[in-house]
Amino acid sequence: MASSQYNARIDSNLCRHLVENMDTAVLLFDSNLKLVAINPAGENLLQASTRKLIGKSYKLIFPQNRECHDILTTILKENRTITEREIRLQLITGQIITIDFSATPVSGVEQVSEIIVEITHVDRLLRLAREDHLQEQYEATRKILRGIAHEVKNPLGGLRGAAQLLDMELEDETQKEYTRVIIKEADRLSGLVDAMAGPNTPLDLQSINIHACLEHVRTLINAEYPELVSIRTHYDPSLPEILGDQDALTQVILNISQNAVHAMLDAPAASSGEPNCLCFSTRPAGRFTIGNVLHRTVLQLDIEDNGPGIPEDLQATVFYPLITGKPEGTGLGLSIVQNIVNQHHGLVEFTSVKGKTVFSIFLPFAN
Ligand SMILES: Nc1ncnc2c1ncn2[C@@H]1O[C@H](COP(=O)(O)OP(=O)(O)O)[C@@H](O)[C@H]1O
Ligand SMILES: [Mg+2]
Repeated sequence: MASSQYNARIDSNLCRHLVENMDTAVLLFDSNLKLVAINPAGENLLQASTRKLIGKSYKLIFPQNRECHDILTTILKENRTITEREIRLQLITGQIITIDFSATPVSGVEQVSEIIVEITHVDRLLRLAREDHLQEQYEATRKILRGIAHEVKNPLGGLRGAAQLLDMELEDETQKEYTRVIIKEADRLSGLVDAMAGPNTPLDLQSINIHACLEHVRTLINAEYPELVSIRTHYDPSLPEILGDQDALTQVILNISQNAVHAMLDAPAASSGEPNCLCFSTRPAGRFTIGNVLHRTVLQLDIEDNGPGIPEDLQATVFYPLITGKPEGTGLGLSIVQNIVNQHHGLVEFTSVKGKTVFSIFLPFAN
């Protein structure tokens, strides 16, 4: 009968395949509350390898977490499923995350034989929602800026042309100075609206090694600020290539690095006598969602400085054009960064406290 095929038990290989590819962390504890199995999402969430975790007691897996401990011991006594939302969980690494925790007993002959724990990382979901929102805001702003750029540039072209004609008519050099101011300012304004609206030219996408871009920027910064800043690098040379525009990505790394260098040099006192240090690092990041796409691995590129940090009142809007904390700043650097990273279907974010600012760029691999 056809239906019996559907009633059959799920094949154990299929089961394993499903659990291994789930986005939810799944852990299996025995009746002594020692860990007997964990899926890759679980390792990822707990930031430890299976080898380190298997056989460990629940107290070590969830250190200093009474809520998780109570749930597991209660299940042993009461043999029922318990779900608790928005628990703060401290990881073995010390990092604190927010999770939804659901534990289900597997009944043996007389008592609970095993407990299946499912953990959802809520911070991550909140972050994804926030990113969606930011992306929408960003696209709306970009549309407005393109509109303004268009409206400003047309009359500006007329203005510039008229000033040029006038310049040719004039004989008096002192009067020509005025027309040249008009031409120069019209060009500046035109460049500014172009930069605000972001590049309109399509990217030149090639299979590239991100380390070439990083090394280029390292040379530029070293040449511009010899002895003022030291640059450390932690590259993973085994990373595959990405599909990117080498010049545009070099611009991204340069804009972020220049901001870091300016911040460090402007406030040397903040680094409490430590030498100004910029650090470039690359690594693979597992199971990462950008936009609506879940990637198995992406490239993570971190640019870290030990400067004073991004002023708190700027942090929410720092990627917007014209937002600057410097008297002479244009506020375009990070807006261009975000624009280029978006064009690469990547993501850029930062964390910043006094003494440690990290810009992280996530880019999909070429294949
Ligand atoms: N690494 C950093 N450390 C401290 N502040 C930063 C850093 N990166 C960016 N900022 C702040 O963000 C602002 C915006 O940067 P950006 O968009 O490049 O414009 P600009 O550099 O012209 O001001 C900077 O003016 C600065 O206040
Ligand atoms: Mg800048």
